[in-house]
Amino acid sequence: MNGSPRKKSRSELSEKKVTVILGAQWGDEGKGKVVDLLASTADLVCRCQGGNNAGHTVVVNGVEYDFHLLPSGIIQPNAKSIIGNGVVIHLPGLFEELEKNEKKGLKNWEDRLIISDRAHLVFDLHQNVDGLQEQENNKKGQGLGTTKKGIGPTYSSKATRNGIRVGDLLGDFEQFAEKFKALVNIHQRMFPSLKVDIDSELQRYQKFAIKIKPLVYDTVSFLDKNIKEGKRVLVEGANAAMLDIDFGTYPYVTSSNCTVGGVCTGLGISPMRIGEVIGVVKAYTTRVGDGPFPTELKDKVGELMQERGFEFGVTTKRKRRCGWLDVFLLQYTHKINGYTSLCVTKLDILDTLPEVKLATGYKLNGKKINYMPANASDLGKVEPEYLTMPGWQTSTEEVRYFSDLPENAKKYIKKIEELVEVPVKWIGVGKSRDSIITIN
Ligand code: GDP
Ligand code: IMO
Ligand code: MG
Repeated sequence: MNGSPRKKSRSELSEKKVTVILGAQWGDEGKGKVVDLLASTADLVCRCQGGNNAGHTVVVNGVEYDFHLLPSGIIQPNAKSIIGNGVVIHLPGLFEELEKNEKKGLKNWEDRLIISDRAHLVFDLHQNVDGLQEQENNKKGQGLGTTKKGIGPTYSSKATRNGIRVGDLLGDFEQFAEKFKALVNIHQRMFPSLKVDIDSELQRYQKFAIKIKPLVYDTVSFLDKNIKEGKRVLVEGANAAMLDIDFGTYPYVTSSNCTVGGVCTGLGISPMRIGEVIGVVKAYTTRVGDGPFPTELKDKVGELMQERGFEFGVTTKRKRRCGWLDVFLLQYTHKINGYTSLCVTKLDILDTLPEVKLATGYKLNGKKINYMPANASDLGKVEPEYLTMPGWQTSTEEVRYFSDLPENAKKYIKKIEELVEVPVKWIGVGKSRDSIITIN
């Protein structure tokens, strides 16, 4: 050693301490439950994108928790929770969520919640604009069915560089007030009917600034330090691959990258630090909101999935559309996310069906295609090709070992593994924390 700082070897930099959990379909795959399962051995649980458009459910000892902005890992008392720079934060919503969960028993969050100073703020005006845009689009028959949580308008403000970040709120308040007035102005020019009580909003935000100050960190340095110290990091993806702004069914998507790239940009971590990428897959497919859905079932089987699966949006309470498992879609999202394992949830919902189907390919205008159409109207026209398998017509709810599953359920899981070419490591058979089969 000559006294100069030792150069880090490539292998030291590539310590793969970060495990990522991502939605592999159109959302609501059961990510919250998987995060809860793995968070028991994590030191940090992070959100990297999206906002309170997400709704993640965790059921512990009969108590149902729903998380929107907070990482679901917050209920694990030993884990710290990070809201990264890529997330958009509606502060009134965040504090409502904290209060609601405190009443259900959430403790000591003040010592465990960390918010990035680079995260953008969602204001009520963004939420109102989201509603107004939807109203206008609906008149033209082009509504997206957004959650109206202000997600699109806030990411638009970010991209047009008029957005306001957490760090701005904690800086000079006069400057924050000027930025806020400019933001109101821009939106009122677009929507003259938009009403904003600037003075009362500013007073409200002055109070929020005091409340969040102790929680705000430079999360890039914080994460880097923790990873170097060997801490285990879990990233909780929100929304899902088919809602990704680049790779999803554009324009019927959300406004962030919900695929693996969003983990790096939304937290400021190197891709070399990512180890496991777990794709969460419902045993069938659901979608809430508008947009193409090739395997959608508008028949009794779709209704059965909706009713048995209690398929209602956690955030908007809308009925989710249901259909067969689309393996062609999973093959597409695997190309983007590179899953190292899959967690198949809600297998129990298919327990009563005499047969189950997997979409293994698409035909467009009568011809087989080998790509996911980028054009939403083409995707709306594709005809899925199905592989039909016998159902198991036996309850799987009490099963805890793969070997105890009915033979036809085993074959269904094995077929998914074979076609996606990714091992299935967990199978969900019920809502609660322990209703899961782990395959070693
Ligand atoms: P997320 O957005 O991906 O976290 O999923 P949601 O919480 O929006 O929706 C998943 C729903 O399925 C929730 O009501 C969960 O409690 C429930 N759930 C998760 N896994 C299972 C499972 O294996 N079986 C059953 N029956 N329900 C499950
Ligand atoms: P989780 O994390 C299901 C859908 C909305 C709408 C579209 C755009 O619970 O899986 P947005 O408000 O984001 O501009 O809406 O995206 N959407 C979701 N659907 N689960 C989600 O999150 C979703 N987040 C957004 O329904 O169609
Ligand atoms: Mg959800």
